Amino acid sequence: MKILFAASEAAPFIKTGGLGDVASALPKALSADEHSQVAVFLPYYKAIKDSPRWDIEFLCHFRVPLSWRSVYCGVFRAKDTAKNLQFYFIDNEYYFYRDSAYGYYDDGERFAFFSKAILESLQYLNWYPDVIHANDWQTAMVPVFLRAFYMGIESYQPIRTLFTIHNMEYQGKAPESFVDEVLGLPEDWRGTTQFDGCTNMMKAAILVSDRVSTVSRTYAYEIQDPYYAHGLDGVLRHHSYKLSGVVNGIDTEVFNPATDPLIPANYTVNQLNKKVQNKRALQEKLGLEVRDDVPMVIMITRLVSHKGVDLVQAVMEDLMQDDIQLVVIGTGERGYEDMFRAYAARFPEKMSANIVFDNKLAHETYAAGDLVLMPSKQEPCGLTQLIGMRYGTVPIVRETGGLYDTVPAFNPETMEGRGVTFKSYNAHDMLDAVRRGAALFHDAKRWKALQKNDMKFDSSWNQSVQEYWQIYRSML
Ligand code: GLC
Repeated sequence: MKILFAASEAAPFIKTGGLGDVASALPKALSADEHSQVAVFLPYYKAIKDSPRWDIEFLCHFRVPLSWRSVYCGVFRAKDTAKNLQFYFIDNEYYFYRDSAYGYYDDGERFAFFSKAILESLQYLNWYPDVIHANDWQTAMVPVFLRAFYMGIESYQPIRTLFTIHNMEYQGKAPESFVDEVLGLPEDWRGTTQFDGCTNMMKAAILVSDRVSTVSRTYAYEIQDPYYAHGLDGVLRHHSYKLSGVVNGIDTEVFNPATDPLIPANYTVNQLNKKVQNKRALQEKLGLEVRDDVPMVIMITRLVSHKGVDLVQAVMEDLMQDDIQLVVIGTGERGYEDMFRAYAARFPEKMSANIVFDNKLAHETYAAGDLVLMPSKQEPCGLTQLIGMRYGTVPIVRETGGLYDTVPAFNPETMEGRGVTFKSYNAHDMLDAVRRGAALFHDAKRWKALQKNDMKFDSSWNQSVQEYWQIYRSML
């Protein structure tokens, strides 16, 4: 089967969040099937173009019609990849030769171009996929443009589309005039793209794609409810017949405590006593009190409110009175960054605020931590808890989305389960969960059982890849 995977980011070329991990690990896992051909399409961002790390070749160029525009597009491809896993880059310096991937006034136009260029490129590459797998609003127009503009060309007719929602919060909204100004869609497509007095690209993709998926089973239910759907619950309920939830995995080669070259001491599930060497090393590195017997709680997250940082903020004073250490890594809203810095200044021996995006430090911290806190308000899937478990770092999570699906609560009687959980979005419920986690840490027998449950959990893509194949096949 031939799969075209369209995304606005994919590691290691470009990554700002979980999508970047998924868009790298899932195509890799799909390509393990030797009968598959997988092509990942990315924008040719400045960061990729300027990096000496990649060996990238030019393939062709043409012009892409975008409403009244006719825009240059170059297609490049990474060399030295597996034969059936190719990375293509859509080039246009006006749109993509900028310092960051997102955050510009014309993001809508940039990614509308990207989506159209992907489709246009197929006839120049003379490669037609069976399935296009589009991800999030940035590639939401791929299924829409395919139906609106390419059905007259025979080679495009058999192509089927899956649209995956990684986060409902970002829907690709634009003024109504965007339909004419940028998308250039025919008159009778208006209804498809319009929503709530705006152009809404995600809504259009939900309507038009053959199948829709999201990144956990629970989130697939949640987004049919107004609390989670950011306005699109009705649209999703209406299309629930084609909606499914497939939980993400992680790249278990990259995240492997037994071989991870970025951590001081490697360990396996049978050498859990070695894990503490990583803790000592990190305590020293970050200037925390060097102590084995204090539970180290870690947070590796974007510092934004839907990740639950406001809950943490609300009980920071209490947390700092407890005998715990807290290590935060991440960037985000200025208020949260300053808040954590301020506490780190007041409690340097127990609190470390690392307002950075630092991959090595993240690996060291996964290996060092005892508990990993994820009190998200919404979490479509979440990868941090999966990585934490892989390193024997026990998750404390709110029961939502992928957190609920991947972290069943530990039962101290039966010794089953993988973490500490709480239900309502409430700071004191979270505080209670942290305290329960800390108590478990001091209960040596149960703690070891819990860590083992975590490390033995299969967070690879093996199962989910089969579910994706099933969805792909169901469309053909
Ligand atoms: C988004 C979601 C996160 C998910 C990731 C990959 O970043 O917020 O929960 O794990 O996409 O699907």
